[in-house]
Amino acid sequence: MIRLQNVHKSYRKNGLVTPVLDVPELEIPVAQRVALVGRSGSGKTTLLNLLSGLVKADSGLVQVDDEDLTTMSEAACDRFRARSVGYMFQSFHLLDGFTAVENVELGASFAGRSGPRKEAEQLLVALELGERLHHFPGELSIGQQARVALARALIGSPKLVLADEPTGALDGETANTILDLLLKKSLEQGVTLVVATHDLEVAAAFDRIVRVEDLQ
Ligand SMILES: Nc1ncnc2c1ncn2[C@@H]1O[C@H](COP(=O)(O)OP(=O)(O)OP(=O)(O)O)[C@@H](O)[C@H]1O
Ligand SMILES: [Mg+2]
Repeated sequence: MIRLQNVHKSYRKNGLVTPVLDVPELEIPVAQRVALVGRSGSGKTTLLNLLSGLVKADSGLVQVDDEDLTTMSEAACDRFRARSVGYMFQSFHLLDGFTAVENVELGASFAGRSGPRKEAEQLLVALELGERLHHFPGELSIGQQARVALARALIGSPKLVLADEPTGALDGETANTILDLLLKKSLEQGVTLVVATHDLEVAAAFDRIVRVEDLQ
């Protein structure tokens, strides 16, 4: 269960404070599949970052699985994220010096699980990248990099999967492959899924649509 209460987030630069997100109240039950929509700059990525513990709220409660991420130490937050969260970033953040399958494997080894090579390969094959296991990110198309990033988020079956525009860089057919895998994993494993998307057709496949502008 995810619970946000009176969350406020601003960014400060050169003495200038820019408020970016206010969430008076948001609850997401376990295993719910949620699409976050909203115009560019509305705070979708910021909200995903708050849920992952990567970014701290200025005030309010961000509770994931009974853990309050706002008061947790940095180290505890890192452990929580490694153990419980799979995050596909909007700009992927793949490691250049590692192949596709190694990047996916790393997703699991950060979480302290060993021997995930087989699962990494299976995920990449399911995402139609069986022929690209040993390519480096620089040798992959943007859409292929997106799929590697998604496999890295899914490996090891985290309880919470966050995905930021997972279908943004893809053609319709590949987007459907990604979406099907995300929804299937969450259904089979009771994963809570929070996905930012600007594609309303994609959003319609989820249990619930949350418009970020409407939260405040
Ligand atoms: N590190 C930062 N420092 C300062 N401002 C930031 C920072 N990160 C985000 N912002 C600002 O916060 C606001 C929300 O950004 P965010 O990335 O969450 O939007 P978004 O809804 O994900 O947009 P998009 O659809 O373009 O990805 C934007 O106005 C952005 O300029
Ligand atoms: Mg974004």
